[in-house]
Amino acid sequence: MALKDYIYSKPTIVTGRLIIRPLIASDVEALREWMPDKSIYEFWGKGPGKSEKNPELLFEKQAKPTKSFHLGIAEKTADKVIGDIWIYLIEQDRMAKTAVRLSKTVHGRGYGTESLSAMTRFCFEHTELKRLWTEVDVRNTASCRMLEKCGYKREGLIRQGRMVNTWCDYYIYGILDSDSEGKD
Ligand SMILES: CC(C)(COP(=O)(O)OP(=O)(O)OC[C@H]1O[C@@H](n2cnc3c(N)ncnc32)[C@H](O)[C@@H]1OP(=O)(O)O)[C@@H](O)C(=O)NCCC(=O)NCCS
Repeated sequence: MALKDYIYSKPTIVTGRLIIRPLIASDVEALREWMPDKSIYEFWGKGPGKSEKNPELLFEKQAKPTKSFHLGIAEKTADKVIGDIWIYLIEQDRMAKTAVRLSKTVHGRGYGTESLSAMTRFCFEHTELKRLWTEVDVRNTASCRMLEKCGYKREGLIRQGRMVNTWCDYYIYGILDSDSEGKD
């Protein structure tokens, strides 16, 4: 498979406790419970936008065909979406950026590590991507730790750089398909 094979049909990835799958309109009520919560945006680089405050907007227009992934993270037991994950800013089918966020109600249960690790493995095993990376506010300890547990390496520190819409000290984390891959 290659990135182009997922343009119209996004994958579903099943882990021990989670289902990582495309978001659907019936997820709106679940998304409304956590997406507008300002506290999860503390180190996100911007606060909740229009569609985060009103998740129904995510389903108003037909999604544009794209190689990027924006998938929901649901607990297997209830198939209720408690977070989401991205693979985006794809450059020449070789490098892409990752992002993950979870409802505060489920932080600290290992779901971040479990979902990012599975998504990372999926990218290296089922697409041509060779490098995944992200930027993380140095104060975002949970995210740094999660990335390290998934096998991402801290590659550098940017001092007072622009991270999304904020200016802060942030780390660059990256992982190559040739590095030892993430673990559940
Ligand atoms: C980042 C995020 C996805 C992590 O998800 P999570 O499921 O809570 O993380 P995990 O439970 O997998 O924990 C990963 C590690 O971080 C540690 N950790 C979790 N929360 C922490 C906190 N608030 N402070 C310090 N360490 C923390 C865990 O203890 C674990 O390390 P350990 O196994 O050595 O104990 C979650 O905190 C989140 O959604 N944050 C808001 C959005 C965000 O900032 N996303 C990242 C943008 S780069």
